[in-house]
Amino acid sequence: MINVNSTKNRIFLLIGFMASGKSFIGRKAADEINCDFFDLDEQIEVHESCSVSEIFKEKGEKYFRNIETDCFSDLLTNCKNTTIIAAGGGFPLKKENQKLMNEVSVVFINADFEIILSRLNNSGKASRPLLKNKNDAEIKKLYEKRLSVYKSTADYIVETENELITIIHKLVKAA
Ligand code: S3P
Repeated sequence: MINVNSTKNRIFLLIGFMASGKSFIGRKAADEINCDFFDLDEQIEVHESCSVSEIFKEKGEKYFRNIETDCFSDLLTNCKNTTIIAAGGGFPLKKENQKLMNEVSVVFINADFEIILSRLNNSGKASRPLLKNKNDAEIKKLYEKRLSVYKSTADYIVETENELITIIHKLVKAA
């Protein structure tokens, strides 16, 4: 029996590597089905009144990770409608976040690594402090290291917004 009020049927968390298209796909799908959309990095930037790069530079990664968890918890508490949330690429790695992820439907946006790399090399690196000094081989290594976490923490794996929309429709209808 599916619980009508379950956040699993209502909140869809998009995970995946940097530049895999989580925000782009999430926004498009939300426009299409007329539901709410939040970008977790943007929420953090509003909360801290500065950019993700500045937070990393001035306060460090650990501080960023704490705020990331807090902002996600706040979203979970406050989202009342069907909602898509795009997480940052490092979000699913933290155990505390994995617990929170059990409460929502987690969708891994599985983009081809070559496409990710070309986006990153085409200006995408500038806004991502973790990749600032990394070459292609180092980025690939990080991608491969994270891939198993993305796969193992996901309830669904998709490549396009249409696939995401199909999943959301199915779960929302089932509720
Ligand atoms: C990060 C991904 C970024 C942002 C931060 C750290 C990561 O978000 O949260 O720079 O650890 O992969 P995007 O995945 O939206 O680039």
